[in-house]
Amino acid sequence: MSAPRVLVIAGSARRGSLNQQLAAVATREIEQAGAVVTPVDLRALALPVYDADIEARGMPDGARTLRRLFAEHEALVLVSPEYNGFPTPLLINALDWASRPVAEDGLPSGPTAMSGTVAGLLSASPGAFGGMRSLLFTRQFLQMNLGMLIVPEQFGLGLADKAFDAAGALVDAKAHAAVVKVVQSVLRTAAAMKPSPVV
Ligand SMILES: Cc1cc2nc3c(=O)[nH]c(=O)nc-3n(C[C@H](O)[C@H](O)[C@H](O)COP(=O)(O)O)c2cc1C
Repeated sequence: MSAPRVLVIAGSARRGSLNQQLAAVATREIEQAGAVVTPVDLRALALPVYDADIEARGMPDGARTLRRLFAEHEALVLVSPEYNGFPTPLLINALDWASRPVAEDGLPSGPTAMSGTVAGLLSASPGAFGGMRSLLFTRQFLQMNLGMLIVPEQFGLGLADKAFDAAGALVDAKAHAAVVKVVQSVLRTAAAMKPSPVV
């Protein structure tokens, strides 16, 4: 098949986010490998905290947008901070919303759009462990609940507030190599999988 299409999602929307910086490193690697990258700005989706009463009044546009993005891409690189050992509410909320749209307008349901997506996990934190504790929960959430296929390689960038140079590159070659390993595994696995349900 042709080169996989890859979503890159950062679980923090704040300006200066360390995880967005790490996502940018992964994005450059994906592009250099010849794959198509679509960065997803979770803040721009403007999703409210999930509430069934809001859903009953009409699915937010951001949920449909995220469902469509999953339907159009085979792979995902997720780069999220850890909040008290868990992936961020911003990330979980967005994926909860994306799991809700039903099949319509030629697009699959949210769960169908996400199912089979090949995903790689990265995290960054100023702390020593780089947010690693959350990756287990993220892995479980994406795999057991959303049906994604998570590659075994993962990486938590510790002391991330000192990890980037002025150009946004990782100072430590070993850290960079760990990101490349995750990206390459995602691309290799996605290339071996069946195409995305649409496009
Ligand atoms: C509510 C909250 C909980 C946090 N819990 C953890 C934690 O469990 N482990 C950790 O390494 N850092 C934790 N942090 C620190 C974040 O890793 C740090 O703020 C990081 O810079 C957030 O990622 P960002 O720079 O991409 O926004 C927490 C921060 C917040 C706001």
